[in-house]
Amino acid sequence: MTSLNPKNLSEHAPHIVQHVQDLRGKEVLIIGDIGLDEYVLGQVRRISPEAPVPVVEVDSEEARLGLAANVAQNIASLGGVPRLVAVVGKDATADQLRNLLSRSGVSPEHLVVDSSRPTTRKLRVMVQNHHIVRVDYEHRVFVSEAVERAILDQVKALMPKVCSVIIQDYAKGVIGEKLVAEIVRLAKASGKKVLADPHRSTPLETYRGVDLMTPNFDESVALAKFPVDDLRKDPALLNKIGNKLMEVVGSKQMVITLGKDGMRIFEHGDSIDFPTNAKQVFDVTGAGDTVIAALALAWGAGFTLDQSCALANFAAGVVVGKVGCVPCSVEELLEAVQAGESA
Ligand SMILES: Nc1ncnc2c1ncn2[C@@H]1O[C@H](COP(=O)(O)OP(=O)(O)OP(=O)(O)O)[C@@H](O)[C@H]1O
Ligand SMILES: [Mg+2]
Repeated sequence: MTSLNPKNLSEHAPHIVQHVQDLRGKEVLIIGDIGLDEYVLGQVRRISPEAPVPVVEVDSEEARLGLAANVAQNIASLGGVPRLVAVVGKDATADQLRNLLSRSGVSPEHLVVDSSRPTTRKLRVMVQNHHIVRVDYEHRVFVSEAVERAILDQVKALMPKVCSVIIQDYAKGVIGEKLVAEIVRLAKASGKKVLADPHRSTPLETYRGVDLMTPNFDESVALAKFPVDDLRKDPALLNKIGNKLMEVVGSKQMVITLGKDGMRIFEHGDSIDFPTNAKQVFDVTGAGDTVIAALALAWGAGFTLDQSCALANFAAGVVVGKVGCVPCSVEELLEAVQAGESA
């Protein structure tokens, strides 16, 4: 993607260094789908006598916070206090998620239990770095009205104390038009900004009223229903996509994340690009989660949108340099900002 109007990240470095402490203790409300990412790692030495399939002898297992739970742990890692409102089933995966959340500085106290569905769980079997198979436990249907009411009760109770709100949609049944409209109404009444990480398969109108969306490039193209081929021919089309998304949703600003090309920020009818700050790239999974977490925390804590995006871009640059979905700490952020400042 060619930058139309590239900006220097280092311009914001002094503000970030001086004000990163302002993020400490700030509460951010996160509403969305959560899940457990599990990895089983092992060796294959023989074929099963039961069927012509490999037998994986397990060496180790790993469990990580997935979906909006990863966004929540990114907020905790940057010194904020995540208030996570999400739905789990009544099962062992939910207990495992609660334990993992607590150990990552995210309180599980606002989770809503829906005994009619399993807790979302994705189990990957890996043999010598090869992904052999993935097993999904999930029930992708909208939550009942009773569950939605329980979600809203949590949102109402938490809204006065938080500095911003994140709607984190993975299209697993929590985020719907009515819930978003209610969250937006409560947030506006309380003077809080609402950010949304949209899902490509959710109708764009669902997000009406949010202040800022953070789709990645592919999501922005899919949501705007623009042909990708046109875009490859004309990079300026990305601005038309941005404008269309903002028009439908009714927001005045937006951020499109562009992977290795950083991010494009739309504000005041203009757009600017922040190139990535990543020095090395090992694992890009979850970088988008880091962006919305850092943005919501910084914007809610009083940073301007530009300053918040610069901070989010530094944090995402740190995260892609680490293996696995490991969030960025304040120390790592400061290190990256100071290195960027002197570059
Ligand atoms: N390959 C890369 N090199 C450098 N920086 C990257 C790379 N990929 C991502 N980033 C950083 O992470 C940010 C978010 O990345 P991206 O646009 O891939 O989000 P995403 O697709 O929503 O990610 P995910 O859904 O996996 O969390 C970018 O704005 C950029 O700062
Ligand atoms: Mg994403």
